[in-house]
Amino acid sequence: MDSILDLKGRVALVTGAGQGVGRQVAIQLAANNAGGIVVNDFHLDRAQAVAEEICRVGGKALPVACDVTDFRAVTSMVETAEGKFGRVDILVNNAGNAGPSDGLSNIKPFWETGPEEWANWLGTNLYGVLNCTRASINGMLKRNQGRIITVISDAGRVGEPHLAVYSGAKAGAAGFMRGLAKAVGRNNITANCVALAGINTPGVAALMPDEDTMKKILRAYLIRRLGEPSDAANMILFLASDAASWITGQTYPVNGGYSVSV
Ligand SMILES: NC(=O)c1ccc[n+]([C@@H]2O[C@H](COP(=O)([O-])OP(=O)(O)OC[C@H]3O[C@@H](n4cnc5c(N)ncnc54)[C@H](O)[C@@H]3O)[C@@H](O)[C@H]2O)c1
Repeated sequence: MDSILDLKGRVALVTGAGQGVGRQVAIQLAANNAGGIVVNDFHLDRAQAVAEEICRVGGKALPVACDVTDFRAVTSMVETAEGKFGRVDILVNNAGNAGPSDGLSNIKPFWETGPEEWANWLGTNLYGVLNCTRASINGMLKRNQGRIITVISDAGRVGEPHLAVYSGAKAGAAGFMRGLAKAVGRNNITANCVALAGINTPGVAALMPDEDTMKKILRAYLIRRLGEPSDAANMILFLASDAASWITGQTYPVNGGYSVSV
């Protein structure tokens, strides 16, 4: 029997796929019969390493370095992807955190920050999502088929006191996806978000405290461990597959029970 998660040769573009959640998503989609994976990252070496990993096990992958906050570069990336694979059927807006900068190691209260620092959070987490969606959606509209999945954070659902601007950027991305879902549903394009809580990735390694503090942090999680990139990738694969063709405009928490929702 065919797997309900079989991607049937569809082509995916995953942003920020050079490490962490994005890398696992790229690998997971490739392993489930994607016809090609565009591995985007700000850092070319990271994108290349993941693309090589996929190709080594028989998948098709194209590394493309570009900053998702740069609309022109994003447009050119999608053109390159379409040149290589013919189309982009699945867009995973995954690039996030503090963007390519090292912002997570220097978190300050909102009242000690200014527009320059806000731009890092808003640029990748909100404008990056707009840019990549805008660049990919015309092809989806033309083919009357598409999947857009945006990785947000529980910060965008319930708010995080030390990450107020990030919380706003992620909530903005989720609001955008809801509006978009309503605009493109008739074209057979779904738009959903996956809201993550703490996932064990290189990007958040700087935030990892000592063992005792970690135990205290984990008390906030009904399942007392951090998430792994595969926890996120499993949900994203599902939303990208035909099994989720009647699901749109939603935000799914994948968070070990960090917050619960009706
Ligand atoms: N790790 C967590 O605990 C956690 C929790 C909640 C939400 N998230 C979200 O999950 C997603 C993945 O997080 P992660 O921890 O795996 O990330 P990470 O920081 O480990 O890796 C992200 C990758 O994206 C790339 N990137 C960043 N900004 C970019 C840009 N502007 N253009 C292109 N590439 C860019 C980076 O170079 C990096 O390789 C993000 O959207 C993040 O906000 C993560």
